Amino acid sequence: MTARTDMLRLHDLEPTTGEFRRAVIDGLGATPKTLPCKFLYDGEGSRLFEAICDLPEYYPTRTELAILGDRAPEMAAEIGSRAGIVEFGSGAGIKIRLLLAALDAPAAYIPVDISREALVAAARALAADFPGLHIAPVCADYTRPFALPAIGGRMPETMAGFFPGSTIGNFAPSEAVAFLARARRLLGAGAVMLVGADLPKDRAVLEAAYDDAAGVTAAFNRNLLVRMRRELGAELDLDGFRHEARWCPRHRRVEMHLVSLSRQEIRLGAHRFPFERGETIHTESSHKYAVPEFRALAGRSGWLPARTWTDAGDRFAVHLLRTG
Ligand SMILES: C[S@@+](CC[C@H](N)C(=O)[O-])C[C@H]1O[C@@H](n2cnc3c(N)ncnc32)[C@H](O)[C@@H]1O
Repeated sequence: MTARTDMLRLHDLEPTTGEFRRAVIDGLGATPKTLPCKFLYDGEGSRLFEAICDLPEYYPTRTELAILGDRAPEMAAEIGSRAGIVEFGSGAGIKIRLLLAALDAPAAYIPVDISREALVAAARALAADFPGLHIAPVCADYTRPFALPAIGGRMPETMAGFFPGSTIGNFAPSEAVAFLARARRLLGAGAVMLVGADLPKDRAVLEAAYDDAAGVTAAFNRNLLVRMRRELGAELDLDGFRHEARWCPRHRRVEMHLVSLSRQEIRLGAHRFPFERGETIHTESSHKYAVPEFRALAGRSGWLPARTWTDAGDRFAVHLLRTG
């Protein structure tokens, strides 16, 4: 470990194994069966997600990167000088590089992610490439309240939230409103927030993005079962489930499911979770928002939608929100 990485103090609020266990018991005990998508991400889940980002079918990452590549100077001007940046679900920390490079003297960067290994690796890589930037990684579940770490040195002039990747779409709309309202309180008066949100499009394009030919998204989805076995000692047949991605027009979302291939059960300690053939575990939703729809949703959370940037093909949008 180099001196510089020693200086990166991790604020560790990682969910415990007990929380994962509780979520599995509650989710598999419910009808229909479901599991929170945040548990898709451990070290392996984050590696698989990065592989998904490079797939030909997965247009969101390269489209959002292109928007940021073209528009980061405009976004940086909206944010202003000496900003403290809080990134929610920072992952490999690729997109933030475009913003950091365009910002005038950013005061601090606080990446927040549930996936500790990926968070630490990304923070170290950023520290190497942005020497002098104060980086304070926080391993936390951002669906729960948490405090920002104290930023040493000069206080930021503005706080800016950054939530790329259309991760906002993983929430149900009411949860997205609650999340944005919490982020607004966390960032404080005068803050701004940039949110990447995928736009509605053809069903075939959407379903392929979440069910690629190489089977990487299938492995990502099944990683939940792998984690349940390894971390919780669950007894289950890994090959007894297949991945499925389906567009749900009613909710305007792509749903990921694990479909049981036979009548079977998952056992977790004294708990038994029976499955019919074809019964599914709903593991992730990705809601798609047209620009006015997203702006209305952000408005319901107390933010004022200020600007929106989209790509030439109208595939993806990046929204700038202000507190007032
Ligand atoms: C769809 S990926 C996006 C990654 C990256 N921001 C991008 O745009 O490519 C979602 C990221 O959010 C993190 N994440 C998901 N749920 C979370 C939660 N409840 N709390 C904190 N981080 C979460 C995951 O670990 C992952 O890094």
